[in-house]
Amino acid sequence: MGFPYAYNSHLRCSRACPARPPYGLTCRASAVCRASAGKRDTRPKRDTSRVFGPCRGGPRSVVLGAMPEQPAMRTAPRSLPLAGHAVPLLTRPLEFLKTLPAFGSLVRIRIGPGDAYVPCEPALFRQILKDPRVHDKGGLFYERGREAVGNGLVTCRWDDHRRQRPLMQPSFDHRHINHYAGLMADEIAALMRTWRSGDVVDIDRAMATLTLRITTRALFSVPADHELVAQVEKWLPVLMDGFFRRMFVPARLLSLVPTRMNRQYPRAIAEMRKLTEEIIHEVRRKKGQDPGLLASLLNARDEVTGDPLGTQEIFDQALILLIAGSETTATALGFTFHLLGAHPEAGARLRDEVDGLLGGRTPRFEDLSGLTFTRQVLMESLRLYPPAWMFTRATTTACELGGHEFPEATTFLLSPYILHHDPDLFPSPETFDPDRWQPGGMSEESRRSVLPFGSGGRKCIGDQFALNEAMLAVAGIAGRWNLSPVTDRPMRPIARATLKPGPLPMRLQERLRQPVRKATITDLRD
Ligand code: HEM
Repeated sequence: MGFPYAYNSHLRCSRACPARPPYGLTCRASAVCRASAGKRDTRPKRDTSRVFGPCRGGPRSVVLGAMPEQPAMRTAPRSLPLAGHAVPLLTRPLEFLKTLPAFGSLVRIRIGPGDAYVPCEPALFRQILKDPRVHDKGGLFYERGREAVGNGLVTCRWDDHRRQRPLMQPSFDHRHINHYAGLMADEIAALMRTWRSGDVVDIDRAMATLTLRITTRALFSVPADHELVAQVEKWLPVLMDGFFRRMFVPARLLSLVPTRMNRQYPRAIAEMRKLTEEIIHEVRRKKGQDPGLLASLLNARDEVTGDPLGTQEIFDQALILLIAGSETTATALGFTFHLLGAHPEAGARLRDEVDGLLGGRTPRFEDLSGLTFTRQVLMESLRLYPPAWMFTRATTTACELGGHEFPEATTFLLSPYILHHDPDLFPSPETFDPDRWQPGGMSEESRRSVLPFGSGGRKCIGDQFALNEAMLAVAGIAGRWNLSPVTDRPMRPIARATLKPGPLPMRLQERLRQPVRKATITDLRD
């Protein structure tokens, strides 16, 4: 038995803090700790750490006369009985998440009757992603996700993933990515042909249509006709919203609140499934022509048994790719055009780069490496507004993380948004500053902490696909059009299953005069 009460001392600041003292010293000198010193102390009365000043690394409980215990874990304040933190997570999730690092490098939140743990430090975040066998796809996000969209590559567990990923990976290799760039350029050009100077267009919606058309053409070799686009536009938002709500509020409770979104959720799942079936039917009909990812899945054979993939498995993969391939890139593009509209000087710099390199022609895959500032703008947009702003993991076995022991089936809630907005990693984190992405513009640790595509064995399979698509769209559109916001109203990101900008009405102005540029060998080949 140790001493009958515990005291907390700041023996070690476990955060990645530049002023982190060696083990055994207090970390009160740290700017991080000083910054949080004014914050309200929400710890239980018995906690005497205020004597030492609050510490973002979290107080470390030591029982006198005994071996040190696990560091104390703080729970985010204002948890309600039964609901836990469901209210802030549903109503102002981004603001809520940004408050968490003040409570430690690993913070407990309550979701309904259960707990989830939020890593607020990049090293812990990466540690979880590095080990998908222990930290498997599970927890609220992926459990509800599987119910909504099935067991495809995004949602499946480690066991299935080992078999599924090698089947899909070849469709995302360099050879294919290059080919997709041509399709992307065609679709971007087709979108711009529908635009008229002076029109006001909802860029959020336009980008959703564009990325959906690109996904179905590139991955399924099926062009998305008007009807398909209209149906996805109608049902996908209902599905994404419903699935997000069900993470925090039990479905039974939601069914008692007959809002339109709640009533339509089962229908949205059914309609999205019907659309996917139609796509698969179309691919089967065109058997032999145009090999795409879906066609190669239809022809795939299990390495051991030689059996083809089951109908359900193909179906789940198709539905998930349809959503993952279009929704995230669309919102990334929406945020990027919003940022360029709100920062005209960055918009002008980007146009200069595009004009200088392309001189008015459509960008191609080979041009992407020369579009340095365009890439910086995109990366900064993904830092500020990561479309996959939150996801979960569940432990498959007992494990240790950040000095704490966790039992099997513990949920971790991971939010790249928290890391991307950490002032220790990114000075003035809310400022749009593409120059952070210049060489030497940020520390290696900061760069490694920008994780819009995740990391480790479950990293996004479509990261290069998405980056190329987004760069071709931004450069292609900026070369021909000026997009300016029509309202001063601040954009408020909407955090649902993905982070979305909401409607973005922008006025289109065709750029008439292109700067003249000397012809190059590349131009002569055209
Ligand atoms: C800006 C666009 C995109 C963003 C921000 C994004 C983000 C992510 C993130 C964060 C993950 C990992 C989730 C986790 O670890 O729990 C992921 C996985 C995945 N993404 Fe993306 N994604 C994007 C575009 C795409 C595209 C274009 C495709 C397909 C064409 C795609 C397909 C997938 C798939 C299949 C997975 C699961 C990979 C696996 O577990 O092996 N994504 N994405």
